[in-house]
Amino acid sequence: MTTTGGRPAALVTGASRGIGLGIARRLADAGYDLTVSARDAARLDKAAAALADAGGRVHPVPADMAIENDVQRLAAEHSQHHGRLDVLVIGAGVGSSGALEETTMKRYDLQFDVNVRAPFVLLQTSLPLLRKTAAANPEHGAKVIALASITGVAAELALAVYGATKAALISLCRSVNTEESAHGVSATAICPGYVDTDMAAYMRDRIEPHQMIRVEDVAELAMSVTRLSAFAVVPELVVTRPGEQLWRA
Ligand SMILES: NC(=O)c1ccc[n+]([C@@H]2O[C@H](COP(=O)([O-])OP(=O)(O)OC[C@H]3O[C@@H](n4cnc5c(N)ncnc54)[C@H](OP(=O)(O)O)[C@@H]3O)[C@@H](O)[C@H]2O)c1
Repeated sequence: MTTTGGRPAALVTGASRGIGLGIARRLADAGYDLTVSARDAARLDKAAAALADAGGRVHPVPADMAIENDVQRLAAEHSQHHGRLDVLVIGAGVGSSGALEETTMKRYDLQFDVNVRAPFVLLQTSLPLLRKTAAANPEHGAKVIALASITGVAAELALAVYGATKAALISLCRSVNTEESAHGVSATAICPGYVDTDMAAYMRDRIEPHQMIRVEDVAELAMSVTRLSAFAVVPELVVTRPGEQLWRA
């Protein structure tokens, strides 16, 4: 990629496994220095060590996105370690399935805290560094990539709250574009159906893993967004599985 000198830097949440790790791997291979985050410190350290094999600086920060202080500390640690933020990947997310009438407010709150509140706080806290990075590199700008879901685009049975959080995340990305993209900071919500990761494991008795979207496909889309100039804004990318029901997860 083209930047104004030095290695670009990315912050990836949910980077210890699944889609976040897939994107972090591709970013490391593309020459990014990284801050990676998740709750399980041991698993995160292992992922960070493997990512560092690509040759860049990788800083692991264990943090729980349900805790506001952790989210703020994460943004601050990234800033201290790398001093620039070319790509912010909002990957951490939680889902819980169940009919509307069965959903407890505890489950509701956890999904909104991790999937909407944390991204908002992380965006707000990271914005000065994203702006600074974009201003130093006006041709490329700085990118936010949020892992939303196709359930935020069309309602999916038994995923009402999860879908509502992802619709909110898509909306948040649109607002970033409205407020910031003229100054080089743009956001893309990637909205896939079922991707073969731990999160979709509960569906494996209904959808064979090999029929699910591949982590590599989502990582490929994320990387394409990182290579765009600041003059192409992609608010969202919807990815569906093959078959007749295009808007189903
Ligand atoms: N898999 C799918 O079918 C699918 C489809 C559409 C969208 N998505 C979205 O894509 C994103 C990644 O999903 P995935 O399938 O890769 O999930 P995954 O395999 O379950 O991985 C989730 C990642 O997020 C971290 N995480 C979970 N809760 C966290 C918390 N409270 N604080 C900090 N980190 C947390 C996990 O590490 P720790 O557990 O150690 O914290 C892990 O690194 C999510 O936002 C998800 O909603 C997934």
